[in-house]
Amino acid sequence: MRTETSAARVLRGVLAAAVLVSAAALAGCRQDMHQAPRYDPLEQSDFFADQRASRPLVEGTVARGHLRADKAFYTGKGPDGAFLARVPVPVTREVLLRGQERFNIYCSPCHAATGEGNGMIVQRGFKAPPSFHIDRLRQERDGYFYDVMTNGFGVMQDYAAQLKPEDRWAVVAYLRALQFSRQATVADVPEAEREQLDNPAPPAAQQGTTGHE
Ligand code: HEC
Repeated sequence: MRTETSAARVLRGVLAAAVLVSAAALAGCRQDMHQAPRYDPLEQSDFFADQRASRPLVEGTVARGHLRADKAFYTGKGPDGAFLARVPVPVTREVLLRGQERFNIYCSPCHAATGEGNGMIVQRGFKAPPSFHIDRLRQERDGYFYDVMTNGFGVMQDYAAQLKPEDRWAVVAYLRALQFSRQATVADVPEAEREQLDNPAPPAAQQGTTGHE
């Protein structure tokens, strides 16, 4: 085995030092990458005419899952701008029960569980809404009730934040059932269920309804 000369040992030392120095220099260069020039959200920029670094969304941009292409379902109005005559989704027993529950939570405090308009808040002095059982409201179109919940009506606030569109339609369906119940006769009740008229089961929505979803 060859022994290293002292000159070679010195050379190795110099090389090692050079490697260390250049490694340090390279690490220094990387700072540029760590501190790349960029804008913070809403920062000012002279580059764009409106002086805003953040660019506005392209007009018509729709967030994923929010297309709402079914205009009638979301507005309660048909292509001609008129209120839909009927709830635009199938009205099943589940839909009616959901509507009953939501109605009792969000509407009955003023409109009363019966829809007569003498709910507790009204008894405490709030403006009395008309009964849902007057002819004008019995003949009104389904889309009208959806619209009142979506946009409010007179002193009544809207319920768009509390009720998703499908829930608003469920409330409309229940409201219609409530109106119908005033006009119905025993003959409208399926024979198998007539017995229950004398021994009514408590309404589903009143069991375990907490007021929260
Ligand atoms: C805080 C009380 C209050 C609550 C809760 C409330 N309403 Fe009303 N509502 C009113 C009042 C008061 C009016 C009449 C407003 C006016 O004439 O200025 C009204 C009007 C209406 C009308 C219009 C009636 C007409 O004359 O054309 C509809 C439909 C209606 N409410 C449905 C609902 C539904 C459905 C809910 C539940 C999602 C609801 N309201 C919750 C107080 C309330």
